[in-house]
Amino acid sequence: MREIRFDSFGGPEVLTLHTDAPTPEPGPDEVLVEVSYVGLNPLDFKIRDGSSGRAKNLELPAGTGREMAGVVIGAGSGLDEAELGSRGLTPGTRVFGMRGMGDSRGVAAEVIAISADDLAPIPGEVPDEDLPRWAGLALAGLTAIATVQDAARVEPGQSVLVHGGTGGVGQLLIPMALEAGASVVHATGRAVNAERIRELGAQPIAYDETDWIQAIMDATDGNGVDVVLDTHYHHTFLPSLDVLAPGGRIVALPSLADLSPALERGIEARIPQLVTGRDRLDQLAQGIRSGRFPLEVSEVLPLAQIDEAHRLLEDGHTRGKIVLDARA
Ligand SMILES: NC(=O)c1ccc[n+]([C@@H]2O[C@H](COP(=O)([O-])OP(=O)(O)OC[C@H]3O[C@@H](n4cnc5c(N)ncnc54)[C@H](OP(=O)(O)O)[C@@H]3O)[C@@H](O)[C@H]2O)c1
Repeated sequence: MREIRFDSFGGPEVLTLHTDAPTPEPGPDEVLVEVSYVGLNPLDFKIRDGSSGRAKNLELPAGTGREMAGVVIGAGSGLDEAELGSRGLTPGTRVFGMRGMGDSRGVAAEVIAISADDLAPIPGEVPDEDLPRWAGLALAGLTAIATVQDAARVEPGQSVLVHGGTGGVGQLLIPMALEAGASVVHATGRAVNAERIRELGAQPIAYDETDWIQAIMDATDGNGVDVVLDTHYHHTFLPSLDVLAPGGRIVALPSLADLSPALERGIEARIPQLVTGRDRLDQLAQGIRSGRFPLEVSEVLPLAQIDEAHRLLEDGHTRGKIVLDARA
């Protein structure tokens, strides 16, 4: 079967398509999934270039990719028909999900073995054309839940600033913050993304055309916002500390973000800790199915063009998600 692997850390060119990979054997609590689409995330290139903490103990050669959508085609010895049925994961079912945090195997392959706990069924009425969105949903969505619910604990009436409102996670942070009761969500992005930010329900601030710090202070009568959700971090974290209202809190998404400048000033700052598993996947499925989480896919590329997909992703201006077609 076809599988993407890399045997050294480096640029996108280290990603190689192999056509002779053995089909994996599912462990007792795993199902075998024929992958339709693979969602990409910045974490993928940070593991590939060795900069992620998750690259430290990674054995090479390694697979790549964390989230996907596909079809169940088999199961391990611990999952009989009744068990699969009770989980809604019988063979032929379309599923989406992501590798659990302790599982470093990739998903960019024709067939994968993956824990049944890390998958949820895709509702039958979802058309196949919509599967790329489901492939890109799990990691970004579970991150957004961990950010809004666990780390920021957004409460009704709070004002929120999202940096990077049209990125993969940003497109879910805006509706989730509004659902949590935020009185207003401001979101930064390039001017070209302002309309999309508005569609998602936030007030756009074009950081490439205006002074976003001044814009936030003007919009809040000089008080600042209660919560900052910072998906970008590099240019935004330090100045964001100056637009927080007294008692406000900031959540920075990159796992290696240095929170000390905030903590030294007595500002509550956190990095979200992603929680995987069925409950939250079902929460995401309901949100996307009902139209509450209108996640966008901006690019679908064939599996063989994964190097090009990583280059686009590393550019840092992805709109919604970049997805690979595992069958093309
Ligand atoms: N802690 C965790 O568990 C966890 C989980 C998932 C992701 N993450 C991290 O979260 C970050 C975001 O992930 P993602 O998937 O959303 O990335 P993404 O899809 O690549 O989005 C990047 C976003 O950053 C915005 N951006 C770029 N420069 C900016 C600037 N100067 N000011 C404001 N926004 C700017 C882009 O907007 P424009 O195009 O408009 O510039 C785009 O919306 C990554 O660092 C990722 O590794 C952490």
